[in-house]
Amino acid sequence: MSIEAQSRRDFLAGTASATALTVFGTAGLSGMSAFATPSKQSSGGEKLIPYGAAVRSDALASDPSYRDAVIANCQMVVPESELKWLELRPSKDEYRFEKADAIIDFARQNAIEVRGHTLAWYGALPPWTESIATRADAERELTDHIETVVSRYRGAIPSWDVINEPLLDWPESASSLRPSIWARRLGPDYLSLALRTTASVDADARLVLNEYDVEFTGPRFAARRKALIQLLRSLRDRDVPLHAVGLQAHLFADRAIDRDGLQALLAEIAALKLDVLVTELDVIDYELPGKIGERDALVAGVASRFLQAVCEVVRPKAILTWGLSDRYTWVPIYFKRRDGMPNRPLPLDAELRRKPLFDVIEEFRRGA
Ligand code: G3I
Repeated sequence: MSIEAQSRRDFLAGTASATALTVFGTAGLSGMSAFATPSKQSSGGEKLIPYGAAVRSDALASDPSYRDAVIANCQMVVPESELKWLELRPSKDEYRFEKADAIIDFARQNAIEVRGHTLAWYGALPPWTESIATRADAERELTDHIETVVSRYRGAIPSWDVINEPLLDWPESASSLRPSIWARRLGPDYLSLALRTTASVDADARLVLNEYDVEFTGPRFAARRKALIQLLRSLRDRDVPLHAVGLQAHLFADRAIDRDGLQALLAEIAALKLDVLVTELDVIDYELPGKIGERDALVAGVASRFLQAVCEVVRPKAILTWGLSDRYTWVPIYFKRRDGMPNRPLPLDAELRRKPLFDVIEEFRRGA
């Protein structure tokens, strides 16, 4: 754990230093250094862009070296699954907060900010939601859920992905919404209902609309950028509360970043006075050559081109990766490598050693 992180920790947590060091043992120290803390200034005198990662409650509980790596590196964490309906609502009349609370407590103990993910999404919904039969039922269920969850974490979660992945894979326009029980029962009104309800429960929360596949060259991605801007404008035109857009940035190493398309999108977002966050950065490497050194360099290169394009237009409010270490990543669920080698999409490898991607993120946090 780096010296500055240690001193901040000691300041915030009082006694941690000795234990952390012993837990890691020297090996960890040599291969790993921490992301600098935002209190540090960039060369231009600006505060560093906060860095964070998606975390898993079970891994935080069972894996001390991973837990320490999160403490050493992250100013922010986002529960990878624990705040989704599937985990929170095993049945209609039940809320299960244990796993989410464990992440909130961990974060509070280590002065780490928590982002909320996610309140209205087509994915990770428990089967019982399919039996929501009417518009009125859907309105009640969505509103009750948001009121219950957001009020519970008011003050503990200052930023929410209220809306996640609203657009169809290849949308024709802003009204090409991805099928979900919410879109089926409420139509596009589910977007404004979710955003207005969240704002009514926590007026201080930053409300984010989170989307993916807007970074690349090609007609589908261009259509997604166009539909996203139309959607943001339609929300703005109806005074629906919204503060920021989350670019998930699940970058495919075999796809070209559309620098002009992305920068035009960001300029439009800035013109709507909306902030930008990079919310789920990782680099999907299943098509890359196996050699580790070469692959890690290619992964870092893709992220660098993306962050370069973004940071030339806007200063992201935060840069989060969808996981911190290759030890815990969703990528092999869908993008296993044919050569059977483990995927390497994240800043730290499975041994918690930093990779070139780590340095690229650090560079752009400093406002490269
Ligand atoms: O917790 C259960 C465990 O009890 C059970 O034994 C195991 C076996 O089925 O499943 C575990 O739940 C899994 C959960 O991840 C926790 O690991 C779910 O099956 C699995 O579907 C779920 O996948 C998550 C997926 O979202 C769906 O919620 C991925 O980890 C997570 O990385 C992924 O994240 C999404 C973002 O929310 C939105 N953007 C894309 C991103 C990647 O797909």
